[in-house]
Amino acid sequence: MRILITGAVGFIGSHLAEQLALSGHEVIGLDNFSAYYSPWLKELNLADIQSAGVKVFRGDLRSEDDLRKLPGKFDAVFHLAAQPGISPDVSFADYLENNVIGTQHLLNYVKQNSANALLVNISTSSAYGAVATRREDEAPEPVSWYGVTKLAAEQLVLAEARLNRINGCSLRLYSVYGPRERPDKLFTRLISCGLRQVEFSLYEGSETHLRSFTYVGDIVEGISRTLVNQDKVVKRVINLGSEEERTTSEGIATVEELLDVKIPVRVLPPRSGDQLRTCADIRLAKELLGYAPETVLRDGLKHHIKWYKEKFIS
Ligand SMILES: NC(=O)c1ccc[n+]([C@@H]2O[C@H](COP(=O)([O-])OP(=O)(O)OC[C@H]3O[C@@H](n4cnc5c(N)ncnc54)[C@H](O)[C@@H]3O)[C@@H](O)[C@H]2O)c1
Repeated sequence: MRILITGAVGFIGSHLAEQLALSGHEVIGLDNFSAYYSPWLKELNLADIQSAGVKVFRGDLRSEDDLRKLPGKFDAVFHLAAQPGISPDVSFADYLENNVIGTQHLLNYVKQNSANALLVNISTSSAYGAVATRREDEAPEPVSWYGVTKLAAEQLVLAEARLNRINGCSLRLYSVYGPRERPDKLFTRLISCGLRQVEFSLYEGSETHLRSFTYVGDIVEGISRTLVNQDKVVKRVINLGSEEERTTSEGIATVEELLDVKIPVRVLPPRSGDQLRTCADIRLAKELLGYAPETVLRDGLKHHIKWYKEKFIS
């Protein structure tokens, strides 16, 4: 198949692109190498995925002209490009333009160029809100600009699918971790602080937050399964995540045990928009995709730590 992946040099997109290319698909990536975190990290991911055969175009979804420069038609489109994360340093305009306007531009492009393609939108448990334990048909109640704009993007995709103009669906992912994880996320920060003995900033109260921490390999497996189950997924929202629920404190303790260090902690005021509990209800993913995430946190973190040491500790 000929596959387009937006956000292809990011954390999850790079794993998806690499795996699909290694499985024999022709994979084209689109990414603007956003400066939300160091573009140098994205260059490292680029080198990895290029050696797997992925071709990457530097372009921005906020520009419809950039999309028109993409070569040919596609059989499937995986949409991961976004302004991710919950950060007080990111403006509302950045969330709106990258997540909502960018998605609408992609939809315009797909309708004109590859109307028969499967379009898989990558959404988030943040769409559910502070407590994300629900099934897909329950009302979302996001509490952050990130969650609101990702939900809007998802609904733009589903609206076009309901009108039978595209073959679209949306997958809501839960706390993904593993090699190449973004530097602003929990485990990369913990590993970095632990190895360098630098203070880890913990938002007050977050140590008791519960998470469905999900290994990136299990997420890529779930996303890829949409390709062979197209008839079942169109017009659907599907949760993808681990059923293993852990507190942030347990996550910290596991990293400390694997690194054999104590991580110094500095407590910051609570962060607005943080989720209190995420626990993926994946009954639908099991039924439609045969999804069965299998990596337990301890094993996934071993891969994550190995990657970090190889890339950043010489
Ligand atoms: N990491 C998680 O735990 C998690 C959980 C739920 C959902 N998601 C979703 O998964 C997707 C990927 O997240 P990630 O953690 O890999 O983030 P990431 O920031 O590493 O990847 C996103 C990529 O999109 C690119 N990008 C951003 N805006 C763009 C634009 N306007 N045009 C072109 N490219 C653009 C960035 O340069 C980046 O490489 C996002 O849609 C995110 O909302 C992630």
